Amino acid sequence: MSSIKFLQAITVTVLILTLSLTATVQSCPPSDRAALLAFRAALHDPYLGIFNSWTGTDCCHKWYGVSCDRGSRRVADINLRGESEDPIFEKAHRTGFMTGYISPAICKLNRLSSITVADWKNISGEIPRCITSLPFLRIIDLIGNRISGPIPYNIGKLQRLTVLNIADNSISGYLPPSLTNLRSLMHLDIRNNQISGPIPNDIGRLPMLSRALLSGNKISGPIPESISRIYRLADLDLSRNQVSGPIPESLGKMAVLSTLNLDMNHISGPIPITLFNSGISDLNLSRNSLEGNIPDVFGVRSYFTVLDLSYNRLKGSIPKSMASASYIGHLDLSYNHLCGKIPDGVPFDHLEASSFVYNDCLCGKPLKACVN
Ligand SMILES: *[C@@H]1O[C@H](CO)[C@@H](O)[C@H](O)[C@H]1NC(C)=O
Ligand SMILES: *[C@@H]1O[C@H](CO)[C@@H](O)[C@H](O)[C@H]1NC(C)=O
Repeated sequence: MSSIKFLQAITVTVLILTLSLTATVQSCPPSDRAALLAFRAALHDPYLGIFNSWTGTDCCHKWYGVSCDRGSRRVADINLRGESEDPIFEKAHRTGFMTGYISPAICKLNRLSSITVADWKNISGEIPRCITSLPFLRIIDLIGNRISGPIPYNIGKLQRLTVLNIADNSISGYLPPSLTNLRSLMHLDIRNNQISGPIPNDIGRLPMLSRALLSGNKISGPIPESISRIYRLADLDLSRNQVSGPIPESLGKMAVLSTLNLDMNHISGPIPITLFNSGISDLNLSRNSLEGNIPDVFGVRSYFTVLDLSYNRLKGSIPKSMASASYIGHLDLSYNHLCGKIPDGVPFDHLEASSFVYNDCLCGKPLKACVN
């Protein structure tokens, strides 16, 4: 054999070897593929054909909504959104609709980092309990389905979980005590479900939490004082629940809290003076049983895009200091027992009568002039 021929032979061999190696490295493990196919089998998509691309042996290659870890070729993300700008939806002129349930087979994908099965409207069944055995899970997003049953009791095992979004479903039961072990959790969204029972007393143990959206459930009991220890909390929404007791004064001393929605609950007691001199700019306390005067503590630090105190039992007059707030975009003091002259000042200039109606005896612009 001439040395050129020999070299050629070697090159060809190396090439074939490399090709076959890449093929095995790149295709997903058959067990991951089988788990995905079992997941798919529990779902029925009558209109879009989103699973049409789920063919062939390599589930890491162009399977719609599936992506794999580059190194290990294990399935890392399932990302199926029923409302997105993907051409699949444009072509069909509709948003997603699926029936069925989320198969526990996904728990065999033990390298899974995110599971998004969102806005399919008719996926029912429960959150598979085994989901808590997926050690790399960072994102659970199941918003906008008809999922029922409880939040898995041992959800706290998911030490890497940053997003838990199960909003707009029919989830019931209590918030599991283990929830407060989720030390990476940044975004908790359980809005519009049937969740009942109290907010765990030690919720303040969630160091990374920045949004806690719990509105539209049947949550009862007090607002735990410990919430105010969550340093990064920017958005707290407990509206439309059965929360009772007073507003902890410490909520007004939080570093970055900017939205506080407590509307439509059974909250009682006075409004803590801290709330009006805080970083909170969106404050809705409407439809509770708050009593006493509106604290006369407004100042340049008071900046509100929304300040809604309507439908409470507030009495006394509108504090004069409110006129020295930097900004009050939307003010609603209607349906209380306020009395006296509405202060003059820039924050009041643009407000209409509807901000002040149904009180005991308020007067002055924009209501009728006061008679003295
Ligand atoms: C929605 O899901 C339920 C339960 O799986 C099923 O009985 C029903 O037919 C589905 N609705 C439609 C419109 O497909
Ligand atoms: C405040 O909450 C009430 C009751 O849920 C709601 O009707 C109102 O629209 C909210 N106010 C603003 C300004 O969003």
